[in-house]
Amino acid sequence: MRNKLIDIIAGARPNFMKIAPIIRAMKAREASGGPLRYRLIHTGQHYDAKMSGDFFTQLGIPAPNVNLEVGSGTQAEQTGGIMTRYEKLLLEHKSDLCLVVGDVTSTMACAIAAQKLCVPVAHVEAGIRSGDWTMPEEINRMVTDSITNYFFTTSEVANANLRRCGVSDKSIFFVGNTMIDTLLANMDRLQPPTFWSEHALEVGKYFVVTLHRPANVDAGDTFAQLLQAIALATRGEKVVFPVHPRTAKTLRDLNAVPKSLLLVEPQPYLEFNYLVKHAKAVITDSGGITEETTVMGVPCMTLRNSTERPETIALGTNELLGVDPKALKPALDRLFAGLWKRGSIPPLWDGHTSERIVKALELVLVS
Ligand code: UD1
Repeated sequence: MRNKLIDIIAGARPNFMKIAPIIRAMKAREASGGPLRYRLIHTGQHYDAKMSGDFFTQLGIPAPNVNLEVGSGTQAEQTGGIMTRYEKLLLEHKSDLCLVVGDVTSTMACAIAAQKLCVPVAHVEAGIRSGDWTMPEEINRMVTDSITNYFFTTSEVANANLRRCGVSDKSIFFVGNTMIDTLLANMDRLQPPTFWSEHALEVGKYFVVTLHRPANVDAGDTFAQLLQAIALATRGEKVVFPVHPRTAKTLRDLNAVPKSLLLVEPQPYLEFNYLVKHAKAVITDSGGITEETTVMGVPCMTLRNSTERPETIALGTNELLGVDPKALKPALDRLFAGLWKRGSIPPLWDGHTSERIVKALELVLVS
């Protein structure tokens, strides 16, 4: 029986925690005689230590076999750059399957390049939809799923979305959430950041904020209003704000930032989730963080009009506030009054998703 080679694609920060447990599960199966082998491909979409390298180190991800080094650029420049470089690699050495995760530019670009060379595509976190075409991630999800062969899903809502698009049940594998595999595997390793004591942070007595969506951070005055509203609604309590590189550009041009906001660099995985776990609440425009807060039972307020992860609202601790800063105060008043929902953990978010993925891949590729 010939071994099968799987390309595992990772490009941007939210990919790294999703691929780490898949690689671990693949190595474990290989050690017990399994037929799957992998080639780890970093596209270079996120390239600096804070957005990439630190995650590889902390999560024990092996060094990539190939780095496509695409670097910064517009959406189209990055997409084109990744496609051209990955196509070249496939032409030199074809793999048996391309496994992409999530919804970033690298996900879509590699799926297209692979499928055009008749390399089947597996998509982890398939089928989720926000319905908001102004987000590049939504386009990436739709394009990727339209050329995916094997759909690995995190929720029944995702399964239903795929069926509505005509995907056959045979191609849908409801396996759970690999991001939660990583969180549960690292829960005991979470560690306070170096500034924890310097800023006298105390468990349950501060907030965490992350913002990087163009709609929230690209225009200086909108962003400044949002920061004022956050400081007001959190009643002057400390707010830890790890600043994404995109957000840093807008921040540099602001005259002043409210005093209670502690601006820090993008945090490594173990420090970031330590901060989240012990926060009073999280205010964010990220998608993945709403899954982590749900599992940790931390109240979460999402500054977006839509979400592709409705289970974090229906079952979890998340609530959509929209993008009007005025929504923050009433929501935080409810939190301060002790009225925030407690939530529960969605089905199959149990830490064993990656093993289920590897088992399914063996079945479809080898039998
Ligand atoms: C990307 C993903 C988004 C994800 C986010 C989290 C897409 C379409 N978006 O958005 O889904 O939630 O990552 O991090 O793929 N930069 C650096 N250092 C780096 C990487 C980027 O300074 O290591 C700068 C870039 O030069 C650019 C900005 O950050 O100016 C944005 O990076 P980019 O990869 O375009 O997308 P993100 O906004 O990070």
